[in-house]
Amino acid sequence: MSGPIGGSVCFVVGARPNFMKAAPVLRAVRAKAPGTGTLLVHTGQHYDPEMSDVFLDQLALPAPDVFLGVGSGTHAEQTARALVGIEAVLVEQQPALVVVPGDVNSTLAGALAAVKLGIQVAHLEAGLRSFDPSMPEEHNRRLTDHLSSLLLAHSQSAVDNLAAEGIEDGVRLVGNTMIDSLLDHVDAARAARPWEPYGVEPGGYGLVTLHRPALVDDPELLRAAVEALVDLAASFPLVFPVHPRTVERLAAAGLEETVARANVLLTKPLGYLDFLGLEAEARLVLTDSGGVQEETSALGVPCFTLRDSTERPVTVELGTNTLLGLEPERIGEIPALLGRERGRAASQIPLWDGNAGERAADAIAQFLAGAPVGVAT
Ligand code: UD1
Ligand code: UDP
Repeated sequence: MSGPIGGSVCFVVGARPNFMKAAPVLRAVRAKAPGTGTLLVHTGQHYDPEMSDVFLDQLALPAPDVFLGVGSGTHAEQTARALVGIEAVLVEQQPALVVVPGDVNSTLAGALAAVKLGIQVAHLEAGLRSFDPSMPEEHNRRLTDHLSSLLLAHSQSAVDNLAAEGIEDGVRLVGNTMIDSLLDHVDAARAARPWEPYGVEPGGYGLVTLHRPALVDDPELLRAAVEALVDLAASFPLVFPVHPRTVERLAAAGLEETVARANVLLTKPLGYLDFLGLEAEARLVLTDSGGVQEETSALGVPCFTLRDSTERPVTVELGTNTLLGLEPERIGEIPALLGRERGRAASQIPLWDGNAGERAADAIAQFLAGAPVGVAT
């Protein structure tokens, strides 16, 4: 890379859930304001092809202008490498605005690098709060929000959380850009029938994702979860794409053989289309993912969340999400709970309508034009 690419809006992505959130906004910024240069920086927090490249391809994101290759490490190591790498790019490119999605370490690094250089920050998915300080993401969210000048929120509760922390200027309720990606791709995802390789039928299987440190980094909780999954698999075959963190923790706890049963179909992390197709036709989803709670609500698929808290309460209030708590033994209640869940429709959460990327791009354009920004849709 040499000399400015002319990127006046710089998007910083790095980990799997960032791609689905950023893609609709990047596309809309490019379409609405062709004169506005864009720059895509990938920190490399996630780097395996199935955690990164597959999403760039399937979401039709452009190849990143810059790949920093920060890789894995402790929180400080990973965040610091991203901070240093992003700073160098921003010094060279001098964008007018840096857009950071979500709550991962790359999000905070992007925001912090920018503000220290006097570059304004837009936080996409601002205002989420689990109120659980043991989650690394909670610190990333809070700090990023307090560094941002434009706060793009996906739900009213996020706007309320920001107001409770004294942040009102620059807040825009634009809706959920992750659901834009879902609505754009779900028909193609279903048409590819990604359940067939697993020998399961639409509506007849469960889909599982588990990766939160609170669960998988605790060997006893992980063992209890694995044993409960094996029991649940007597009622429904389970497709379980295993996150790389969880692969490592299962191996360290000696649980690989316990979980690998005939009815627990383990796979590598799946590409977006395969995962989305499986999610759309699942009888149930068991997860600790943030994004999956949202997607299942938009799809009308019952979701059981193995966490004590959610930063996405709208998925419980208006969607299909049931918070089980960080209590793996409650997995055994799922067949009975499912009886009550049957027949729930895809939820109509306000502004989770496929047009959030457009609204976010409008908010960015107004912000760059210096127009006043307030809470408005
Ligand atoms: C990160 C985010 C989390 C998000 C999740 C999405 C932070 C603090 N955490 O968690 O909020 O929900 O991504 O998936 O930013 N690894 C690989 N290959 C990869 C990436 C990771 O093998 O491509 C392994 C490494 O051993 C690494 C571990 O997974 O140490 C964890 O990766 P890391 O990015 O640190 O955290 P996640 O658990 O993925
Ligand atoms: N996802 C995927 N393949 C998988 C698991 C998840 O494509 O094997 C997608 C899922 O559809 C959602 C996003 O990854 O769009 C959620 O990311 P993740 O659970 O890693 O992070 P979180 O949302 O918890 O931060």
